[in-house]
Amino acid sequence: MSVVVAPDAEGLRRAVEILRADSVVAFPTETVYGLGAHAFSERAVAEIYRLKNRPTWNPLIVHVADVAAARELTDEWSGRADELAARFWPGPLTLVVRRAARLPGIGAANDTVAVRVPAHPVALDLLRASGLPLAAPSANRSEGISPTTAGHVVRSLPDVPLVLDGGTCSWGIESTVLDVTGDVPRLLRPGALGLRMLRDACGTIALPESETADGVARPSPGMSRRHYAPRARAILCKDVRDVDRSGLAEPIATLVYEGSDGTEVLSADPREYAADLYAALHRLDDAGVATILVQEPPQTEDWLAVRDRLSRAAA
Ligand code: TXA
Ligand code: MG
Repeated sequence: MSVVVAPDAEGLRRAVEILRADSVVAFPTETVYGLGAHAFSERAVAEIYRLKNRPTWNPLIVHVADVAAARELTDEWSGRADELAARFWPGPLTLVVRRAARLPGIGAANDTVAVRVPAHPVALDLLRASGLPLAAPSANRSEGISPTTAGHVVRSLPDVPLVLDGGTCSWGIESTVLDVTGDVPRLLRPGALGLRMLRDACGTIALPESETADGVARPSPGMSRRHYAPRARAILCKDVRDVDRSGLAEPIATLVYEGSDGTEVLSADPREYAADLYAALHRLDDAGVATILVQEPPQTEDWLAVRDRLSRAAA
């Protein structure tokens, strides 16, 4: 069973001890909780994949304390990477850069490495106290709903030895993943940091290719079609009231945004909606709901990350 501890000096000391012994610790970030391990310990990284039941082709994000530590992961720290880091770190932007040849690959990443500096005091305390770069995927079973509280982590991954409890994550949705290895930055995963901010910083951004006929173009290896999924079957619909419910497994719940009636009513503001989405899905699962009718959010760019997660939850 996991032990949940306060992120005070004693909690951090225990966490560092576990990380130095090549095991794993769950910790809060401003986006979602991460399952952290020493990024260059083969044994520790293997433990992440085992606990999450994560397919080995899906590489991990490395978390570091500052830009200097990020630069050590690559021999090609471009002006663009530097600008983006200066502007958005600490924060919910993950940069994919070329991995330094002398470093081992982390998980399945080939010649690149994904890196970010998280904007959460506990995450930063842990990075500094351990002195280690921490590989950390979201702290949930593969394909499940990401955790935004320590309680979510324990329910999804009861075998994690230690969880640092930092309360509820403020963004509640994963970081934006941007590939900056080429001339034009490429969006690999929409996330907390919006496109408008990114375009402001670097002009044109290449968006993920649309899905191919036979399945999915996988811009980011982890963007498999079904992901972020509750146990219940989620169905996206324009208006949850119009859905023919015969043939749907019961109990049926509805997830809507402000202005409509539903089991879970989330904000009509995309940032607030994103912050509550995973918690709402966790609540519906805990309530034993079998079908969730989800009101489709607007087709605007502000809703890109939320729409991405909902379409994967419903796949
Ligand atoms: O907000 C977040 O990013 C959270 C917190 C804990 O930092 N982490 C997170 O990790 O969401 P994870 O493993 O659930 O998602 C990482 C995503 C996956 O889609 C993965 O395929 C992609 O980043 N990724 C990791 N390394 C990559 C690389 N070298 N090239 C391309 N994509 C990469
Ligand atoms: Mg994840």
